[in-house]
Amino acid sequence: MEIVKGTKKWMKLRTSRCAGKSLGFVPTMGALHAGHLSLLRRARRENGLAVASVFVNPAQFNDPRDLQRYPRTLSADIKMLESVGTDFLLLPSAPDMYPDGYTYRVSETSDSRELCGAHRPGHFEGVLTVVTKLLNLVRADRAYFGEKDFQQFRLIKGMAEAFFIGTKIIPCPTLREANGLAMSSRNLLLEPAHRALAPALNKALRSKARPAEIKNRLEALGFEPDYVEDRWGRRFAAAKLGKVRLIDNVPL
Ligand code: PAJ
Repeated sequence: MEIVKGTKKWMKLRTSRCAGKSLGFVPTMGALHAGHLSLLRRARRENGLAVASVFVNPAQFNDPRDLQRYPRTLSADIKMLESVGTDFLLLPSAPDMYPDGYTYRVSETSDSRELCGAHRPGHFEGVLTVVTKLLNLVRADRAYFGEKDFQQFRLIKGMAEAFFIGTKIIPCPTLREANGLAMSSRNLLLEPAHRALAPALNKALRSKARPAEIKNRLEALGFEPDYVEDRWGRRFAAAKLGKVRLIDNVPL
């Protein structure tokens, strides 16, 4: 696997080394787990070359403490990416990604205001901006996104269509622990007692109860729920356990 730090270096490699091969791209913020690797395996399988990026994007953290606490496990990430046959790893810095100082932004004014958007001001603007930049840089044939962040996937797909971005946006199923907990980089930050409680979020989502009842149930268990809501044929929830905010969604 070749590790590429600067955006200029990547643009040169993109022209010289990727000609005639299809490119599959998986953008990440690192602290990789089996969920991320499932996206990379698929990118590897469906394309001539697989490209990953690890960039903890400051623009999408509405809470500076969340950015500070976000787990960073780069040497383990590199080993995991190599184990699934990743060809290139992009590791841009914040000045690489934001030469404009984040004065240019991509926003969406409808679906991005719901669910997580209603609770995390500026979050999806940060996501859509960085993903636009990454898609323009990588110029992949296909980019892979997890349904664990379904609202994010939906907004990125809509953005790619709205701006005629040539990369196909492909959804991938959520990988879970055996107990149902959706794998997430933030799970690393859960205290032991909260880690034991966390699978109850998925269990509650899969119950037959209505969203309001599920929200009450989560509260009674010790979660601080932001929302439980039905949209787009799915049921979504976000809830805090201590300082860690968990999200999940299931098809209805
Ligand atoms: P991150 O949370 O690192 O996730 C990177 C990709 O992995 C996303 O598409 C996410 O949906 C997917 N993913 C995470 N957990 C998963 C799981 N349990 N099963 C399947 N896929 C999973 O999402 C981001 O980073 C950022 O917002 C990013 C798109 C990189 C922009 O900064």
